Parts: sequence; structure tokens; C-alpha cells
Amino acid sequence: MIKDNKLLTARIIDRIEESASFTVLGKAKELEKKGEKVIHLEIGEPDFAPPETAINSLLESLKRGETHYTTAQGIIELRKEIVKYEKWFRGIEITPEQVVITPGAKPMILFALLAAVNQGETVLYPDPGYLSYKSLISFMGAMPVPYRLDKNRNFAIDLDDLKSKIDRKTTCIIINSPSNPTGMIHSREELQEILRIAREHNMLIISDEVYSRIYFDGQKHLSIMNLTEDHSNIILIDAFSKTYAMTGFRLGYGVLPKELVGAVVKLIQNSFSCVPEFIQRAGITALREGEQFIAQMVEAFAERRNRMYEILQQVKGIKVPKPNAAFYFFPEIKVNIESAEYAEYLLNHYRVALLPGEAFGDNGSGHVRISFANSLENLIEAATRIAESIDKLQKERGLKV
Ligand SMILES: Cc1ncc(COP(=O)(O)O)c(C=O)c1O
Repeated sequence: MIKDNKLLTARIIDRIEESASFTVLGKAKELEKKGEKVIHLEIGEPDFAPPETAINSLLESLKRGETHYTTAQGIIELRKEIVKYEKWFRGIEITPEQVVITPGAKPMILFALLAAVNQGETVLYPDPGYLSYKSLISFMGAMPVPYRLDKNRNFAIDLDDLKSKIDRKTTCIIINSPSNPTGMIHSREELQEILRIAREHNMLIISDEVYSRIYFDGQKHLSIMNLTEDHSNIILIDAFSKTYAMTGFRLGYGVLPKELVGAVVKLIQNSFSCVPEFIQRAGITALREGEQFIAQMVEAFAERRNRMYEILQQVKGIKVPKPNAAFYFFPEIKVNIESAEYAEYLLNHYRVALLPGEAFGDNGSGHVRISFANSLENLIEAATRIAESIDKLQKERGLKV
């Protein structure tokens, strides 16, 4: 819009927030430009190269000339492969007609909301939770309402809080297990209760399961889809981003109730048209041949988690739950400092970049998110610096009561 000869951004842009990880990354990069070495614990992507066979498939596809528009819903070979994978991994029966391929999980979240939620309706989302939920809900014209994850119960869903937030306008709930930022998973009982509540109130469930393959201590993923054969009010979202360290490929998918598929395909046709075929071919190979890759990556993550946890749990001014999935710690900072101020302090004085908890919602305040997608050596060094910084702050400012 141009007003008084000045170009202004449209009001709709005010509904979305800048991603905190990119803001912190920007500050860290400025320090690096001045020649400082920063340890990056703020970024949410695996620091591994994607499976080589997936890269080769992409290159072969390009050489075959698969460089044109392709079907908006996604090539049938990939959708069929996802059907097989879902049967094998989650143990659910779906059809290729229910699968829609998108450039990563994020557009699928937006399109699911656009396809199923009306403007002015209310969508529940977790707090602390992945920061795009609130932005995307607001952006499409619905009302974002956070429900609390309980800090004192390993970030389990506070069901009383959740129930108190439901009214006539509530039509959808987003759940995310394993969770970013907490690294925790929801129990069978919690998921069962979500299913029951959603049915009672005619709500759609969007289940974001992008960390479904990164589990520790031999635990197995449980999807809300596993709890019922009636998937008519559930949208499952997963992606290749975290599972195969393929963040930059931009490849994800939704499993949708049949009634919503056409709507999402229309949105795709009118926006990004399709995911490039060579990317989808890489996805097929990842699904067929990526199990060893996942096992090795998860083993590396597990070792990092264990080593970092050993250091952090000894620090008096931090309360650190041991995450059982994903690649994040979400500890509480128990010294007298706001977590945003602490994140800044740590970057400025100790050259370690992490994210303040309030970036993930009001209920995240007092916490920080530490990503362990970095080398073991860097992580041990960073944990030592965090321990030193907390020690120093504790002496200067005392512990929170
Ligand atoms: C919970 C959650 N959902 C979705 C995404 C987005 O994934 P993608 O890169 O596949 O769009 C992320 C990325 O950080 C995430 O943490």
C-alpha cells in the first residue's frame, strides 16, 4: 500500500512473526564477521549430510531430464512409497490418494489450516511450541489460542488448561510429539484424551510429527493415528527434513482425510505448483534406503545428549530435564536473569548462541532451547561454557526462589 508517497507493507504481514532462530543467527553472524568464533546451538536442523543414495537419485533424475512441472499432489511413485512406509513405520493403513507432497512440513501446516479452518475460528496450539504455529494460524485469519504444556510434568499437556480454552469457535488443535522445543513426547494417555476431546467438540487434529524418527533409549514413536482406525478428523504431517537431514531439499507430506485433499491440491496449484520431481525422487530413495542413515544419526544424537546432560545436570543454576526425543534440551535457568537476557549474555560473553524460551510462547519463559545438532566436541565445549556462565551469574545475582 502506498500512503502519503510512502510504501507500506500490507497489514496482513503484521500477523506473522520473524523466526527467533534467524534473529539470533543474525547476531551470531555479526560477531563471526568480526572474527569471533561462535558455537551454534540455536538452529533446528541436523548437522549431517543427507544420505548419499538420495543425492545420487536426485542427480540421476536431473540427468534424465525430470526438470518440468509435475503433478501438484506429488508423483504417484512417492505417494505409494509413503503408503508403504506408513504401514511399516506407524503401522497405519492409508491410500496414495490421501497423501499430498509439499516443500517441507511448514507449507503443509499452513495449507491444512487454510483448507480446514474458517477465518475467525479458534485453533489451539502448544505453549511452549514451535513458533510458526501461532504465526500461521494468525496469518490465515483464525485465532491462535495457546494451551499449556506442564513444566513440572516433563511438558505433558495440561488437559485442564486445554479444556478451559475450548469454546464454540474452537475447530482445530495442533499437537506436536516429539516436541520442539521440549524434546519430550506425549504419552498414549495424553493422546487418547486429545482424541476424545477432539471428537467431543468436533475438532480437527493436526499432528505435526516431524521428529518421529529421532528417539532415544529404545523408545518407539506413537502417533495419534495409531489410536484409532477412524482418521476422519486427523491430519498427519511429517517431513524428510529432520529424519534424513534433508532440510534444504524442502520435502514433506501430509496424510489427509479425503475431503480435504482437493482443497490442498488447489492451494498448491495456485502457489508453488509442485515439488520438483528430482527432489521427490530423492525422497523415494531416502524412504527405501535410509534406515541405516537414521540409525547412525540417532546414535550420534544420543551420545551427544548423554554427554551434554552429564555436564548440564551438575550445574546448580539449571534444571535440565533429559529429553527422550528430537535434538533439544529445554532447561530452566534458575538464576535471577530473564532468559532473553541470558541468551544475549551467553552470546556476548561466552560466544554460545541458543534461543530464549519465550520465543516458543509465554510459558517458555525462564527456559532456553539448546539444540544438540553440533559436533560432540563443540557441544562439550558449549556445555562447559554454559556451566561457567551460570556459575558466574549465580555468584553475581543469586538463585531464583
Ligand atoms: C515442530 C516442527 N514442525 C515443522 C518444522 C518445519 O519443518 P520443514 O523444514 O520440513 O518445513 C519444524 C522445523 O524446525 C519443526 O520443529
